[in-house]
Amino acid sequence: MSVAMDVSLTELRSAYDKDGWCALPHRFTDDTVALLRERVASISRERRPEVVYEEGTGTVRAIHGCHAFDEVCAALVRHPRLVALAEALTGKPVYVYQFKVNLKQAHEGAAWPWHQDYAFWSEEDGMPSPDAVNIAIALDDIHEGNGPLVVVPGSHTLGLLDLPEDDGEGGASDWRRHVSANLTYTVTTERAEALARDNGKSLITGSAGSVHAFHPSIVHSSSNNLSADRRALLLITYNAVDNAPPNPARPEFLVSRDTTPIVAGADARLELVPHQADTPA
Ligand code: SIN
Ligand code: MN
Repeated sequence: MSVAMDVSLTELRSAYDKDGWCALPHRFTDDTVALLRERVASISRERRPEVVYEEGTGTVRAIHGCHAFDEVCAALVRHPRLVALAEALTGKPVYVYQFKVNLKQAHEGAAWPWHQDYAFWSEEDGMPSPDAVNIAIALDDIHEGNGPLVVVPGSHTLGLLDLPEDDGEGGASDWRRHVSANLTYTVTTERAEALARDNGKSLITGSAGSVHAFHPSIVHSSSNNLSADRRALLLITYNAVDNAPPNPARPEFLVSRDTTPIVAGADARLELVPHQADTPA
């Protein structure tokens, strides 16, 4: 079912252009979240390369590329409101570049150091420009204590920061360091803290089902989850069709090779409602 937006896509676009992120005034219903959690649990039990573990453990850190092999995830990326949002924020027709769920398990979920996503997509995949957008769907209640995403508003306008010197070898780095707590491309803590002193920091918190969007170049991080509450965050990256990297080398579950424009389609199991709609009075 499609629901009329009480905040227009134009308003979301202007917040996104200014701050590099925005919050939807709608959330997925509890039933939708339950269905997505069930799919995540099932995929997490599979032994397949798309399932990544916290370093040296059997704890699932993330699952990748699920839209390519799971029919519920495939339906989700076609959700008309998500597609409309991605097209409004990039200003272009889009395809799915990446799909992942970062699970941030209770007590064990490890941090993501300060970084910019576009560093990976530019340096490793050859994505020509940051004409892409991340849409983040909370699959758990996300609060200050369970390792929420932290972004520095406005930092998406600064270009890529702190890239390592080119070693002249033209070699790609190990993709495992693009999905672990030991990331290849980071923004230094000193720089991130200086940016945060000037611009502030925003915590991307919200109840399960809430939806946010953030820019590929925004400086962001998240801390270890020391709490008893899991913090699962589903992330869909839509890329402009005319911004597809010509010859990516990383595995397909990190860089979709199917660059045909996504065709929006409603699925009755995946329902967005205004934030207050199904909250008990
Ligand atoms: C996180 O799940 O906290 C990190 C997500 C990201 O870096 O895009
Ligand atoms: Mn990131």
